[in-house]
Amino acid sequence: MSFNLLKGKKGIIFGALDSNSIAWKTAERVHEEGGEFVLTNAPVAMRMGQINELAEKTGSQIIPADATNVEDLQNLIDKSMEILGGKIDFVLHSIGMSINVRKGKHYTDQNYDWTQKGTDVSAMSFHKLMQTLYKSDAMNEWGSIVALTYMAAQRVFPDYNDMADNKAYLESIARSFGYFFGRDKNVRVNTISQSPTPTTAGSGVKGFDGFIAYAEKMSPLGNATAMDCANYTVAMFSDLTKRVTLQNLYNDGGFSNMGVSDAVMSTFVGEE
Ligand code: NAI
Repeated sequence: MSFNLLKGKKGIIFGALDSNSIAWKTAERVHEEGGEFVLTNAPVAMRMGQINELAEKTGSQIIPADATNVEDLQNLIDKSMEILGGKIDFVLHSIGMSINVRKGKHYTDQNYDWTQKGTDVSAMSFHKLMQTLYKSDAMNEWGSIVALTYMAAQRVFPDYNDMADNKAYLESIARSFGYFFGRDKNVRVNTISQSPTPTTAGSGVKGFDGFIAYAEKMSPLGNATAMDCANYTVAMFSDLTKRVTLQNLYNDGGFSNMGVSDAVMSTFVGEE
């Protein structure tokens, strides 16, 4: 189903690792809607990933960039403008990683070198990306920048570990930088807070199966899928959402406003 919502728009999409990645689905949907883009990921992820397949399918070029490295980001932005033949209309930041999570280090026993690395990759990279775009004046007026986040930024999910803090930082950067981007360049900046989704990053969280099943039972519309997230992002990149900015937008089937659902309650009182 295509509405040509992104016809003539050009962008950069971070974070497509494999076909489960939210960024992968987003790239496919953006392509269907007529958007053109450059794909990027960390050089190390490209060796393990299947990004070439996605590039071929969507007629895109790939430029490797470590999102924590400002020189890489500058090179990515300069080359993207060359390839796409002008300034950028949309950017998706779909990047997250915690070494503490990956190595099973408990929140109360962090290795701070790992914490710092995770913060740099998952949150500060968003500032670095926006600062590089801003200083290069690389965004077109009424452009749209989206980063993906999770509700552990607001509520306690014990196994989400230091990623909860990284997401809180990420969301704050979206607001703080979004102000300057809006004031000076008419560009909007938002985060989409997505349901638990079975991807490489998602499944790395301890107890993920329980996590996703619980959210499914709590949400009146059920968990939002990666495709739902892709569709929301397409809407946020389109001209239909021109004055939505500085927001953390929940794409979670209603989970974030629930106290308890019948389905969850029934597991305690023994009836559906
Ligand atoms: P994924 O594992 O497919 O994507 C994460 C991406 O981050 C990978 O492509 C990885 O190569 C990239 N990355 C890691 N370090 C990088 C670096 N230094 N430079 C550039 N890229 C780097 O997993 P997923 O789930 O698609 O993650 C995308 C975003 O969605 C992340 O921000 C994640 O936190 C967020 N999110 C995921 C949820 C889930 O349950 N899967 C729920 C809510 C948000």
